[in-house]
Amino acid sequence: FSAFLTDSFGRKHNYLRISVTEKCNLRCQYCMPQEGVKLTPRPQLLTSEELLKLARLFVQEGVTKIRITGGEPLIRPDILHLIGEIRKLEGLKTIAVTTNGMNLSRLLPDLKDVGVDLLNISLDTLVPAKFEFITRRKSFHKAMEGIEKALAVGYNPVKVNCVIMRGLNEDELIDFVSLTERKPLHVRFIEYMPFNGNRWNFKMMVSYQEMLDSIKQKWPNLEPVIGEEMDTAKMFQVPGFSGKFGFITSMSDNFCGSCNRLRITADGNLKVCLFGNTEVSLRDILRSGASEEELLHIIGAAVGRKKKQHAASQEDGLVHFKDAESITDEKQAH
Ligand code: GTP
Ligand code: 5AD
Ligand code: SF4
Repeated sequence: FSAFLTDSFGRKHNYLRISVTEKCNLRCQYCMPQEGVKLTPRPQLLTSEELLKLARLFVQEGVTKIRITGGEPLIRPDILHLIGEIRKLEGLKTIAVTTNGMNLSRLLPDLKDVGVDLLNISLDTLVPAKFEFITRRKSFHKAMEGIEKALAVGYNPVKVNCVIMRGLNEDELIDFVSLTERKPLHVRFIEYMPFNGNRWNFKMMVSYQEMLDSIKQKWPNLEPVIGEEMDTAKMFQVPGFSGKFGFITSMSDNFCGSCNRLRITADGNLKVCLFGNTEVSLRDILRSGASEEELLHIIGAAVGRKKKQHAASQEDGLVHFKDAESITDEKQAH
């Protein structure tokens, strides 16, 4: 495995998340303001050629899984072509997409045909009015349709990402788990995380333990599901249900120790951590005409600077972070 993608703690980064656009067709409260995020001027965004060049380089160095994110990745006009080209990279095993599902009924089955292996779809509520409040758009039915279509074209499982916020949707845990009774869904409850400007506060965060306790009141005999070491989620199953559910415990029990991810932002920055703000512009280096070797050294140096844990979990964990407003300059989470 490439030394350039191995950090000083021995973590091998074989999973690359590429943001293909900053734009989104929803306005989730916890992610962006009503007016949207400030968009980077087009000339400063990676072109598809640049993006492919980088993807090729990372795969050559040992990346085996690429996840396409945004913003909302499926609003990028050339998304099918782009994914098709990435799919052809020799050595790549998995290509995944994280989406809010709005465009799935239009883009399926094409996404499957160009080679998307895994779909993660965000859905924070099963109540249409709440969906409108959270996302500031009246599109609940589209989101559900997207999930149904993904199942219908054969994705199994379909992962559903659900950010739980106190006072908003923590009363829907049971309903979400019930969805897994008949459908091969993996519902993943995500601890609410502080992103710049999302007015995160400690009280709104519902911890994994609290969520698990409340689900156990209804189903005391949950079966833990053993996953891969690098998985973000701790998974469980209600005995007899066809799907599973789990928790992404970024806040209460971070999984930094087994982190295998790197990120490329739409404007071409390499981020070595979701929360970290250490970025290096691969776009500028590419455009300066640097050789592959030079590019790799710069990537290697950034990976080498990767910290042991993210800021929200240093030393004494959550307590340390209680009053902070935000710990990352992440523009969007998708
Ligand atoms: P899989 O590849 O299917 O395991 O998906 P994933 O969980 O890695 O990605 P997804 O895009 O579905 O993200 C789900 C949640 O995990 C989101 O809230 C992300 O912000 C969070 N997440 C993804 N990667 C990281 C990471 O490196 N660190 C932390 N702390 N959270 C992450
Ligand atoms: N905390 C936790 N998860 C978040 N996501 C977006 N913002 C946050 C946040 N503040 C989720 C989205 C999507 C995934 C990629 O990240 O809902 O499912
Ligand atoms: Fe869009 Fe995802 Fe952010 Fe919601 S969380 S506004 S769907 S990028």
